[in-house]
Amino acid sequence: MVGADELRAAMRRFPAGVAVVTVALDDERFGITVASLVSLSLEPPLVGISIGLQSSIHEPLRRARRFAVNVLAGDQGGLAQHFARSGLPPLVAWTGIALRESALAEPLLEGALAWLECATQAEYEAGDHTIFVGSVESVELGRDEDGLAYARSDYHSV
Ligand SMILES: Cc1cc2nc3c(=O)[nH]c(=O)nc-3n(C[C@H](O)[C@H](O)[C@H](O)COP(=O)(O)O)c2cc1C
Repeated sequence: MVGADELRAAMRRFPAGVAVVTVALDDERFGITVASLVSLSLEPPLVGISIGLQSSIHEPLRRARRFAVNVLAGDQGGLAQHFARSGLPPLVAWTGIALRESALAEPLLEGALAWLECATQAEYEAGDHTIFVGSVESVELGRDEDGLAYARSDYHSV
């Protein structure tokens, strides 16, 4: 069987866009950096994200049944790193993070290229991850600039 390191080494050569998924639940906010965002369907509008079972956002995401996607800009590598950090207490995770004013419960990151508001339509078990399929209820566009990609273990503006 192919090992995790072997697969990781191959996938490191696959440049992927970077987004931060945010969730609000019981007056707490959560965020996670993802490269697994995929556009699944246009009619109806569906996106997918794959979230590790061990991730601290996994259970809140399941319970909230809603999430927001912040599509990061090429100059937001620092934010991506921040939300990829393990073990940050929820309060600390949001200290000093600039948020966009919004009527949504989910935090929206200032300066992102686009924001998607999603209602979870389906969840699929996928090994040590769960694939969440989100029905996109609204879309807002931000700056029209280069996006953030992750490849060869580093961030690139593309
Ligand atoms: C560029 C990049 C992309 C990532 N994509 C995903 C992803 O799609 N799904 C996921 O579960 N974790 C992904 N991660 C890892 C999570 O961001 C990280 O494990 C999580 O934020 C750790 O926080 P926690 O331990 O509090 O859950 C990615 C990390 C990086 C740096």
